[in-house]
Amino acid sequence: MGNIAVQSLKESRAIDPAQELALSVLEGLSGQPKSLPSKLFYDDKGSELFKKIMHLPEYYPTSCEAEILGQQGAEVAKALSGQKVNLIELGCGDGAKTILLLNHLLQNKVDLSFVPLDISRAAIDFLIENLKREYGEIPFDIQGLVSEYFGGLSWLTENQANRNLVLFLGSNIGNFNEPTAMRFLRHLWHSLNDGDLVLIGFDLKKDLDVMYNAYNDSQGVTKEFNLNVLDRINSVLGADFNRSNFQHQGLYDVKSGAMESYLIAQSRHTVMVEELGKEFQFLPWEPIHMEYSYKYLPVEISDLASSTGFEIVENFKDQKGYFIDSLWKVKK
Ligand code: TRP
Repeated sequence: MGNIAVQSLKESRAIDPAQELALSVLEGLSGQPKSLPSKLFYDDKGSELFKKIMHLPEYYPTSCEAEILGQQGAEVAKALSGQKVNLIELGCGDGAKTILLLNHLLQNKVDLSFVPLDISRAAIDFLIENLKREYGEIPFDIQGLVSEYFGGLSWLTENQANRNLVLFLGSNIGNFNEPTAMRFLRHLWHSLNDGDLVLIGFDLKKDLDVMYNAYNDSQGVTKEFNLNVLDRINSVLGADFNRSNFQHQGLYDVKSGAMESYLIAQSRHTVMVEELGKEFQFLPWEPIHMEYSYKYLPVEISDLASSTGFEIVENFKDQKGYFIDSLWKVKK
């Protein structure tokens, strides 16, 4: 039975989270086109809805990545056999995919410490409960870190000499545009040691209908997920968004190579946000941009790796060729 500990790293915050939310809503709704920050998606209700999205038949990234980790995770594990390793998961989910990789690491005699790293204590506790359900007695150490990504990573590399393997799964990297992805990866590179590994999920460019259906599901869960953001602004910032004034649409932008989610006003109307003391005018058919999900070509993945200081060890693809988990090594 492994040791289980969760600690919160103290970090200085310039302003409190509600204020920060208000400011990003002010910035987004004052812009042209209007937009809302994607961090608004993941309150308790939103996280529930996202779990539903992951189980939708049309939402292929989850099942593709589970196939990759289940069938090819042993290749990742062999690279670490016999070593003392921190497996660090950035932004932990429910653990369903992580367990597939954990099992391969255990089978390959990796001396493992699992480090779920998330800004939300609740997310880490939920993941640990799922692991307890899966294993009964958990056969490795868990050191949960409640922290911002980079604060947590720097703390680990300063305090421990273990080899690190960082997981950034799903299509998380896809939410960043190119400059932001480069900034994120370069920051990751700085926080790690020479020879450390990262495994990053990239959704590939593919048939347009397959992508369209994944972001416009037939049960309307994705629509609900987007409208929940308006409900959240109503409750946190005292706004009066009426969800029935909006249509939802996910569209692929052929120029940027991203699926983009929009809420589109169906009529001219005004929305008041009490917390900001400000009204926002909507014209008929005016869009609010909600989210980018950038899709990649394999050559774009290699360019990104080499321009941020990493070497590609191997690309693991699912059978349909929809998704790549790319294993990178830090070169210093
Ligand atoms: N960002 C994730 C993705 O690109 C999650 C997601 C799925 C999502 N469907 C969405 C985000 C719709 C916003 C809107 O796959």
